Amino acid sequence: MNLVKRCGRGRTGGIPVLLAGTLALASTLLGGPATAAPQGTLHELAAAQGKYFGSATDNPELSDAAYAATLGSEFGQITPGNSMKWDTTEPAEGRFDFTKGDVITDFARQHGQTVRGHTLVWHSQLPGWVAALPSSRVEAAMTDHITREATHYRGAVAAWDVVNEPFNEDGTFRTSPFYSAMGSDYIATALRAAHAADPDAKLYLNDYNIEGLGAKSDAMYALASELIDEGVPLDGVGMQAHLAVQYGFPYEMRENMRRFAALGLDVAVTELDVRMQLPADAARTATQSSYYRQVVEACLAVERCVGITAWDYTDKYSWIPNTFPGEGSAGLYDENLSPKPAYAAVRTALGGEDSGGEPGAIKVRYRSGDSSAGDNQIKPGLQVVNTGTTAVSLSEVTVRYWFTGDNGASTYATWCDWSPLGCATVTHRVAAPGSPSAGADHYLEVGFTGGSLAPGASTGEIQLRLSKTDWSDFDESDDYSHGSGTSYGDTPEVTAYVAGDLAWGVEP
Ligand code: G3I
Repeated sequence: MNLVKRCGRGRTGGIPVLLAGTLALASTLLGGPATAAPQGTLHELAAAQGKYFGSATDNPELSDAAYAATLGSEFGQITPGNSMKWDTTEPAEGRFDFTKGDVITDFARQHGQTVRGHTLVWHSQLPGWVAALPSSRVEAAMTDHITREATHYRGAVAAWDVVNEPFNEDGTFRTSPFYSAMGSDYIATALRAAHAADPDAKLYLNDYNIEGLGAKSDAMYALASELIDEGVPLDGVGMQAHLAVQYGFPYEMRENMRRFAALGLDVAVTELDVRMQLPADAARTATQSSYYRQVVEACLAVERCVGITAWDYTDKYSWIPNTFPGEGSAGLYDENLSPKPAYAAVRTALGGEDSGGEPGAIKVRYRSGDSSAGDNQIKPGLQVVNTGTTAVSLSEVTVRYWFTGDNGASTYATWCDWSPLGCATVTHRVAAPGSPSAGADHYLEVGFTGGSLAPGASTGEIQLRLSKTDWSDFDESDDYSHGSGTSYGDTPEVTAYVAGDLAWGVEP
């Protein structure tokens, strides 16, 4: 594809940015100033940082003139939410219909936008005839589908989500007609077919809940590593990023992006939205803004993160209320197409103001709440104190208490027993670091669902407790973070992070 674009001007008259049209070249500014004026569109601000900022869209929405105007001006990339999926493009075997997808690529062409094709192979929105095929015919049907669609969109689609959502939450492969017929080899076969049909398109695997570290993102990492080792054409990994304020932010997003980048892959945030329980209130809205901002900051911090796509940009056309009754308000713009605080947060982050800069100034105070270092529970008491001169958003703060699991079960239960903030605002879980070190093969990670710490303020005491699920004993005496003091003191062995960056202490 050789699409050289002049980005649409923002409502306040942003700077024109000339941008090469492929996602590979999305990071290459061919002209325009080196730094964006703050009044640029989201995409112009992103492009000045070498990224794109895009939105999902769908055919019925394009007849909404106000919606289409913002879609065409504010965003430099679009993804069809439905119109390139299998049930639309090949509803009956061998009967292809690219009418709806063509409307999307035409819109993109008219507005100088790039297109992410979504999606060639997915277990959902798959017409019944595919599932009804005998397994001996599935590979040919899949290859034919990919070949016809990717050939049709050659030059118009810069990147394809070749395989969408291949994993279950525990990191095992999801069952689908493709997996049932070919095992996990269907993924390499699909990528090879897509590459043969469109050698210029960037080819992605795309999934949700792989933004942070965990079983599912580990599985994607293992798969990507294996495919690369085997020489299979794979260019990137898409992290959908359907986030929710009630579930905490995936703090390890940067670290996770970086490990995929280290494989030589691009990463893209492909379907960003941040839903909440309705009604939206000030606290949820503030948390949402902070999540959007942190996603932008993560992408800006990782060179191989090529861009971000909102799914869709406005609450007016969000998929959330249909799928999660009682939840919504997930987009950057409200139902009246007015920008929300999250939009301002994204702009600020893209403008480079305070993004990727110094982490918030905090410290951790700790005391042992445990009289025995050899029983079946660990009971740290923690306090987080703001030592800086500006407020720290608690939803960005995490604390790690490092310990060893010793013998017995390797699964854990965790509790917050008391906190003046209310334990409902305190999140806690046990996780294992990528590589264990002396005294630290696990950590208790503590976070906050919201709230803010004013300069000098403390969270007050948070009483935490953890055990192994088989209630076997610990030997805490050699644990990295363990101390025997029963009054609070500054403890660098208990580390703290703001927006994923180490802000206090020394990691083991
Ligand atoms: O087109 C029919 C319409 O004729 C009918 O009247 C109406 C009645 O329900 O349904 C319409 O189809 C809907 C379709 O969107 C188009 O609007 C489907 O019911 C609805 O299920 C479908 O939802 C889509 C969803 O994928 C299906 O899984 C969403 O719009 C789309 O945003 C969503 O996107 C997925 C990504 O592809 C993959 N990642 C998750 C993401 C969110 O679920």
